[in-house]
Amino acid sequence: MRTQDLGELNGPVLVFGGPYSNLQATQAIKAIAEQHNIPVQNIICTGDTVAYCAEPEETVQLIKEWGIAVIEGNCEESFGNDLGDCGCGFESGTQCDLLSAQWYRYAASRLSNDSRQWLRTRPQKILFSLAGKRFTVIHGSMEQNNHYIFASTSEEEKRRNLQQAGTDVIIGGHCGLPFYQQIGDKLWLNPGVIGMPANDGTPDGWYALLTPSAENSGLDIRLERLSYPFKDAAQAMVKQGLKAGYHQTLITGIWPSLDILPEEERKQQDIPLETGSILLL
Ligand SMILES: [Fe+2]
Repeated sequence: MRTQDLGELNGPVLVFGGPYSNLQATQAIKAIAEQHNIPVQNIICTGDTVAYCAEPEETVQLIKEWGIAVIEGNCEESFGNDLGDCGCGFESGTQCDLLSAQWYRYAASRLSNDSRQWLRTRPQKILFSLAGKRFTVIHGSMEQNNHYIFASTSEEEKRRNLQQAGTDVIIGGHCGLPFYQQIGDKLWLNPGVIGMPANDGTPDGWYALLTPSAENSGLDIRLERLSYPFKDAAQAMVKQGLKAGYHQTLITGIWPSLDILPEEERKQQDIPLETGSILLL
């Protein structure tokens, strides 16, 4: 596994996933980082820089120039190596399969060689320490970058991954929905994605802020909403003919296909998620 070790970090850390070619959301998360004075070495993206939205090349170049750490998700792997589809492993003929064919073709036609080269050289695993805790950042699971780990995924599976990682926390991405779950004295955190809403009936994206607490030497982990000019992102998609469904999702906050969702997460559709925080001691 290509591993990047960021070493011991100080101060708040910003984590987010899935820019998904959404330039407006990416600009908004960069502005959040600037507002909080978070240095570039304390910012980590869980991958899928390129996907559904209208500006793949511009989004990659913005993140590349920003210089933050980015995990290789299935989309980085697919676009970086010209693999021909998004690598989610959708069954042929399912709605996700049909929808992804359009945005994959579009993004593949837009990416420069420089961007492809950057995408295929991202690390598959990132390690860091913060407030005495050790973290592993991956995209899907420890074994597979396109494996979905949801809040409803069994504790057993999360525990197995945490054991394999050998760290206090795993930060994962890929499933598109933010959540955290304590498993014994360990934690699974998915900071959510910025480039698509969380199927909760609101247009916001999600990110996480990890802030060392001065009083008790613990770590405050907070899931936050990202509001951004979502109508501009939707209009950019329409302008490029990307009208299969995700352009509406940016406005309605409802996914066009629930193929990938377990029953538990399907029941949460259209119910606004709560922001939340947990103190890790
Ligand atoms: Fe992914």
